[in-house]
Amino acid sequence: MTKLNENYLKLQSSYLFSTIAKKVAAYKQENPSAEIIRLGIGDVTLPLPSAVIEAMHKAVDEMAVSSSFKGYGPDYGYDFLRQKIVETDYLARGVQITEDEVFISDGAKSDVGNFQEIFDAKASVAITDPVYPVYLDTNVMAGRTGAFKKGKYSKIVYLPCTAKNNFIPLLPKKHVDLIYICSPNNPTGTCLNKEELSKWVEYALNNKSVILFDSAYEAFISEPDIPHSIFEIPGAEKVAVEFRSFSKTAGFTGTRCAYTVVPKALKVFDKEGGEHSLNSLWGRRQSTKFNGVPYIVQKGAEAVYSPEGQKQIKENIAYYMENAKIIREGLRSLGLKIFGGVNAPYIWIKLPKGVTSWDFFGKLLKEANVVGTPGAGFGPCGEGCFRLTAFGSRENTIKAVERIKQLKL
Ligand code: MLT
Repeated sequence: MTKLNENYLKLQSSYLFSTIAKKVAAYKQENPSAEIIRLGIGDVTLPLPSAVIEAMHKAVDEMAVSSSFKGYGPDYGYDFLRQKIVETDYLARGVQITEDEVFISDGAKSDVGNFQEIFDAKASVAITDPVYPVYLDTNVMAGRTGAFKKGKYSKIVYLPCTAKNNFIPLLPKKHVDLIYICSPNNPTGTCLNKEELSKWVEYALNNKSVILFDSAYEAFISEPDIPHSIFEIPGAEKVAVEFRSFSKTAGFTGTRCAYTVVPKALKVFDKEGGEHSLNSLWGRRQSTKFNGVPYIVQKGAEAVYSPEGQKQIKENIAYYMENAKIIREGLRSLGLKIFGGVNAPYIWIKLPKGVTSWDFFGKLLKEANVVGTPGAGFGPCGEGCFRLTAFGSRENTIKAVERIKQLKL
């Protein structure tokens, strides 16, 4: 009899976005003529920037000739891409990161999901509530939680983030080993400023904790005083790992390229208190379990850093943020309380009193043929809230807002 990892049985029956996709597919089957607008999963709709396409075409041609053909690439990514990341995303912003601290991967989702396996199976974990489900589910799989009751797993430290506390999580009262922070935040679209983030770095320094900082949406920040990187905070290099992605920044959701920064100054400890480099351990993990991102894709990602690439991604981001404004203003005119959508492509809607987020999901799907994401899917504090993304086309975004305006809320 082959036994399984029973932690998998603690998971909710399906991943949030798969559940939504199934519900939408079932509705579509029953209502084939419905013209559905999808503002649920945060998936981009604009095509790849032409600078990226040109670079990828060139790379394809290189693969056709033996003198320039590439087999396995370097485990942690090609130097040409690591160099550009360091120069543009860090040094140019006054943050000291070196190339050997950057690991190229196929996605922030996989990196942030895989990273926890380096830590002790008993490590205590804090997550914000609501939260991007990957942080939680991967720790459930690893056995760091107890049972799921009343919307929460025991042993997890939930940090409520609601309008009441301006979406700023309070420091945990007891010691935690691992802290997941996402800023700009998915799902609430809100951010931590320098002062707030500094408190977390200080907590982690005092508690020898590790912060897993997801900044996949940093390119959408429009206001000053919002850190783009946790490494803008002094001391963070001793306590934080940062996850970044080309998915939303440059339209790579279907192309797959991201990177994780693991500073060499960041140490973790064995049972005897001996120090170990997290950078070396992550490198060891990646070289064992991962064979790198295709050369063609890394060439495309490199082109994001060319002057044309930078110009084109900024235009695309501005387009999405105009969508965010259309959604924000449209829904505000209905008297709804709206958060996010200024430094992030997500708009977080407070629903009228008594309306549950899954009920609203059903109503929106049936009566407006618009798909969004129920807040409860991100955690108990998300109940009574609803997320829309700004990643639709302009035409669909306008149409969706008009349809929502027709609803009796
Ligand atoms: C989301 O909708 O939250 C994101 O698309 C999920 C992801 O990036 O994996």
